[in-house]
This record gives sequence, C-alpha cells and structure tokens, in this order.
Amino acid sequence: MPSENTVADRAREFLVRDELHIAKANSRYFDIVADHAAGSYLWDVNGRRYLDFAMGIAVNNVGHCHPRVVAAAREQTGRLIHCSAVTHHTLNIELAEKLARITPGQLSSVFFNNSGGEAVDAALKLARFITGRPNIVAFKGSFHGRTLLATALTTSKSHYREGYEPLPSGIFHVDHPYCYRCPVNQTPGSCGLECFDLFDRLFGQLVKPHSVAAIVLEPILGEGGVVPPATGYSGSGSYMQRLRELCDRHGILLVFDEVQTGFGRSGNWFACEHWGVEPDIMVMAKGIASGFPMAGVIARKELMDQWSPGRHGSTYGGNPVACAAALASISVIEEEDLLRNAREAGSVLVNELANFKQRYSFIGDIRGLGLMIGMEMVDAAGAPDGERLGRFLDQCRDRGLLLLDCGGKDHVARLTPALNVSQGEVREALGIIEQALAAVA
Ligand SMILES: Cc1ncc(COP(=O)(O)O)c(C=O)c1O
Repeated sequence: MPSENTVADRAREFLVRDELHIAKANSRYFDIVADHAAGSYLWDVNGRRYLDFAMGIAVNNVGHCHPRVVAAAREQTGRLIHCSAVTHHTLNIELAEKLARITPGQLSSVFFNNSGGEAVDAALKLARFITGRPNIVAFKGSFHGRTLLATALTTSKSHYREGYEPLPSGIFHVDHPYCYRCPVNQTPGSCGLECFDLFDRLFGQLVKPHSVAAIVLEPILGEGGVVPPATGYSGSGSYMQRLRELCDRHGILLVFDEVQTGFGRSGNWFACEHWGVEPDIMVMAKGIASGFPMAGVIARKELMDQWSPGRHGSTYGGNPVACAAALASISVIEEEDLLRNAREAGSVLVNELANFKQRYSFIGDIRGLGLMIGMEMVDAAGAPDGERLGRFLDQCRDRGLLLLDCGGKDHVARLTPALNVSQGEVREALGIIEQALAAVA
C-alpha cells in the first residue's frame, strides 16, 4: 500500500498535468480527481470517498455504474459499437419505442443526438423547418447548452454569452415565472399570474406571434436556480396550462427542454407531467443513459414526419452502446420503482431543509420536486448571497458531500442525488448539511 503522502501526491500530480493540457474553459466545480464510483459514492485518486449529490450534474439517475447498465454496455460493446446512418439498428428502434411509451401523450417519433445542447438545436431546427417561422421565444434565467443557438437561448448568466456575440438572431426572452423573485412583484396572496401578461407586451412590442416557431421552456429551471413555474394562486390555472393555450391559439410549437428534469428526476418520468401539459416537442438528455453520450428530440409523428430525409443528421447520435445503456437505465428506473423513491426521498430532504430554514435567516427559499431540490441563500436585504453559498459548498465538500451551485449569482445549492439514494444516504447528507450550515452561520 502506498503511504499517505504518496497517495495524496497522486491528485496533485494529476492536477499539474491537467493544468498543462486541459482547456480551462471547461472548468470544474471541485479540484477533486475522480477515480471510480458506485451507487451514490465517488472515490478520488487519493482514496477519499464522497457522497455524491451532484451525480455528474443530474445525469447518473440510477447511481454511478449501476451493474445492469454496466452489463448492458459491456455486452453491446462486444456486439456492435457503431454503424451510424449507414444502417438501421435494433436498439435504436427499441429505445425509440420505449421513449414513446414513457413520454406524455402523443410524443412518439425520435431523433437521436449526443448531448443536450445539440438536441436543443435540433428541436429548434425542426420547429423552424416545419412552421416556416423564424423566431423563438425563451425564458430569462434558463440554460439550454453551449452550441451557438443554445447559447443564444441561454440567459441564466451573461457569462455564458459574453464574448460570443453576435449570437444567432430571432431569439426573444420573457421573464420566467420565478415566484420567490416575482418579475411583476406579486406575492402568493395576490398572484393572478400577472407574469403571464408579459407575453402581451412581448407580442405587442417585439415580435408578432404568427412569426414565432416555438416557445422553449425548462419545466423546472435547472442551472437558473431550480425554479418550478408559478402555479397561480387565484384560480387562474397554472402558468404551464396558460402557455399551452397560448401556443395553440397562435400555432406556436411548445418545446420543453427536459434535459435536466427528465427520466424521473422530478419524481415523474418527465416534469411537465406535474402540470398535465404535453409539449409538441420534448428535448431529452442527461438521465437518459446514465452518463453515456445520448440525447434525443421526441415529437408527435405527424410533426416529425414533416422533417424530410437528410434535413438533419448525426454521425454518433443513437449509438448502439449508448442505446443499450439507455434501455438498461430506463428498465432500472421502472423495475426498481425509482419514481416513488425520488418522491419519497425528495420529500424527506425538502422537509428537513425547511427545518434548517427556520433556524437560519440566510436560507431564503427551499424548492423543487422529487430529487431536483434547490436551497437559495440570501443576504440580510434578501439579495442573492453567492459568497455564503460558496463557503457552504466548500464546507460540505470538506465533510465529504458533493453539492453544486446554480442560479444567476451562484447562490442556490442544488441537490440532485441518484434516484435510488437510500434513506441512510439522505440522513448522512442532511447531517453534513446541518454541520456546514452551522459553520457558515
Ligand atoms: C436544461 C438543459 N438543457 C440543455 C443542457 C445542455 O446539455 P449538454 O451539456 O449535454 O449539451 C443542459 C445542461 O446542463 C440543461 O441543464
């Protein structure tokens, strides 16, 4: 066995080599050098164990290296790794059938991609192509990826946009219905979904609705701070239902970006089910294949069929090994009843975090659905407090718990554990969070 010192030097040595050869643009949340992982835990090259509530940014929904996913990918690697658009293949077809079954309503025809941003681009190419309309409406505070079109949609931070202007045109933004920081200064008692009237302003002042191909929404903002949309407190229906009606009225396609919220993360297969609203097009990635590069766009067949052959493509999209991993991941979610576990573990976490909020005035809001949970930190004036949140996350890491930040000012702690997280692991995380909160109080 190497001595403590030799072991500790391994991480430092890798970080020096990383510094020399890895692009800094793709920065890391933590200077931890991962070695291996299983279930809810990740070990670094020094042998230190972390309880991972980041899960590769909400990707490993069935936990790290689930044995069934590993076996399926191994088996497929020996059978067929790649065939691209040269031929059809069985797993592509089986996965599309399965996605048609677990996604809401009429969604049934799939285009496979490799990453979320790429799939967002594909969804919007599809929307523009079949409507013949140029414009797209997205929400302030949202994150849709790093391709140029996805960057133009993204407004969770100006940091993601600066330096890349001019960004693709024809993109317009409305305020997100973020109740804790209501864009139209309503309170839960007074709210009649006045934020929805911002569409009237948008359509009156900036862009005619008949020129809009698609409205794109993350059903729960992820990077933007784990923000579910307003539900409406005065019998006015939910924001999501109003959005569906607005799109129907104007022939606009409703696109849900379920890249982060999908595959059980919110306690339903897809977050839009919480509001009973079906999009015309849905974008999927992250949790679909437990970390294998895989993403997809699903739409009603009559829409997808209008995208004529050869008008879009991908060399690797729908790769057989990624398909095998996706099929195994979906089966695990189904057979291990992980939607239920996500709801139950999520409600334990939210209730306990709400207790901490009673103790610490710097916790402004606890919110989320299933195992997509945010804890917003505020200063004495109620403004976002990214500085304290940063110290809190460091304290968690030092105690062996990995949590990520999100929100425009990096002021929201994001909890996205594996959907099969155990009660014991939830208790372990809560114990560390309690200590870390006390340390930054
Ligand atoms: C909602 C949402 N859309 C799109 C993306 C981009 O996905 P990818 O990084 O796989 O391109 C992300 C990534 O965090 C996301 O959270």
